[in-house]
Amino acid sequence: MVQGERSHIAIIGAGIVGLAFAVALNALDKEHKFAIDLYEATPELAEIGAGINVWPLTLSILKEMGLHQTLIPFFDHYPDLERRVIFGLRKADEKNGFHVYDVMNEGGALRIHRADLQRGLIQHLPLSKSNKVHINTPCTFHLNHRLKDYTRDASEDFGRIKLHFDKKPSRECDVLIGADGIHSTVRQLFLSRLPSPERYDKYRKPVWSGLVAYRGLVSREDLEETYPGHRALTHPGLIYTGKTRYVTIYPVSGGKFINVVAIARDTSNDTGVWKGPWKVEVTQEEFFHTYQGFDEEVLALIHCIKKPTKWALHVLDHLDIFSKQQVFLMGDAAHAMLPHLGAGATVGIEDAYILASMLTHQSTSRPLNSEKIKLISTIYNTVLVPHATRMSKLTNDTGHLLDLTAPGFDLEHYTLGDRIPLETLINAFRQVERNWIWSSSDPEEDRRKVEDLLESWSGPRLSISHQ
Ligand SMILES: Cc1cc2nc3c(=O)[nH]c(=O)nc-3n(C[C@H](O)[C@H](O)[C@H](O)COP(=O)(O)OP(=O)(O)OC[C@H]3O[C@@H](n4cnc5c(N)ncnc54)[C@H](O)[C@@H]3O)c2cc1C
Ligand SMILES: *[C@@H]1O[C@H](CO)[C@@H](O)[C@H](O)[C@H]1NC(C)=O
Ligand SMILES: *[C@@H]1O[C@H](CO)[C@@H](O)[C@H](O)[C@H]1NC(C)=O
Repeated sequence: MVQGERSHIAIIGAGIVGLAFAVALNALDKEHKFAIDLYEATPELAEIGAGINVWPLTLSILKEMGLHQTLIPFFDHYPDLERRVIFGLRKADEKNGFHVYDVMNEGGALRIHRADLQRGLIQHLPLSKSNKVHINTPCTFHLNHRLKDYTRDASEDFGRIKLHFDKKPSRECDVLIGADGIHSTVRQLFLSRLPSPERYDKYRKPVWSGLVAYRGLVSREDLEETYPGHRALTHPGLIYTGKTRYVTIYPVSGGKFINVVAIARDTSNDTGVWKGPWKVEVTQEEFFHTYQGFDEEVLALIHCIKKPTKWALHVLDHLDIFSKQQVFLMGDAAHAMLPHLGAGATVGIEDAYILASMLTHQSTSRPLNSEKIKLISTIYNTVLVPHATRMSKLTNDTGHLLDLTAPGFDLEHYTLGDRIPLETLINAFRQVERNWIWSSSDPEEDRRKVEDLLESWSGPRLSISHQ
């Protein structure tokens, strides 16, 4: 091991992905090559409510990060690769809804309250006061630090990056990670500094998808009282579908709550641009109105959500570069996608894991050098850009299958509330199941792939082609 200085990594944003990167780097950095500064704009880390799907794939990564034991108590079943139902699909935009198809995968879905996942990640941060993890990569956490700008000394090949914060002194780093979410500042700055930045104008701002999501948590007791014997009380996960709108539910917090996400195509503004705040409290009447004519089971769930919120779903589609030299985008900052597959955070955690694997690979020196960081950046783009594009396309496709608007499945002839032949529905939902196959794949394969690239593209005589 080279006994040079540690390289300094700045992470902008302490959402699930920024936290996951810090934890992953520490877990893999056995040779102590790095130190981390984690900067978060908000004065404290808000606990974001609602549920999140953790897939067998996600859990394999979290396991390598050392989080397995911390998270297991929160799951509704012990993680294994048994074939399980992830969602029972019901046709429900009519008075008497009916079961159509069980979407299954190997290992099921491990549902967890977001706050529990976030807390688990925070407990595993390598902070000096931590007693939960072994510290390979010391991390300093700076709340209340909103990044405004960064500058790089262009006269040097591997010049330090200077970070400029709102009302805070400037800081420096060797590698900059933009994990600052869909409104990412780092993405804007990064794109404006690429050659011919006008090419990237359309990626600078997220785009409204034409969809809204009503969200709420239903307490188990409320539902028992409102609708005794409601299917949701005992089912691992359900999707109530109808033409142009559907409702996803699954239990979280050991079944104490039922997480409800109801997605609908909003046609009230034909401009294609969402005006106003992205997240608003709405009345129960509006929620009922959107799902009028739906099965009573759906109406009972809405009845139990006294204060629903409505989210305008935005995306950042198909940006074709996530990294250059010392700057890396990850998570929603790189590829915010629709929630239909419950995959957004997982794809971000994969970014974090793959980058941490490359940075800590045995061939990476301490401190990092210019050649190596450029190579890592090239591989990051080569592997992760097409992966994210594939996943966001799959997500969009799945959304159109779930709300019965997908082309090519004979669904065109029907409108909201129509009886659709069972065979037609089953055919569409079999495709939904195929779209979820990735959820039990092995993340080690991708890791090996990037490590192979790192080894085969390394070497003193090889000249690296920069993207
Ligand atoms: C309805 C819905 C359901 C979903 N369900 C799932 C699911 O089941 N499974 C799944 O995997 N994904 C799901 N997702 C997607 C998932 O929520 C996101 O992909 C994930 O939370 C993104 O994490 P992130 O860390 O990249 O960004 P964020 O969580 O947005 O974090 C970004 C952080 O950066 C901070 N920040 C921003 N700007 C700055 C700045 N200039 N300086 C410093 N800090 C800054 C912010 O304050 C924030 O803390 C869902 C999304 C929605 C909308
Ligand atoms: C539609 O536009 C109006 C006027 O700008 C705005 O008040 C309303 O919130 C918008 N609704 C949607 C769904 O964007
Ligand atoms: C999403 O899928 C629909 C239906 O297949 C298609 O028309 C649309 O172009 C897709 N959108 C994106 C951004 O891929």
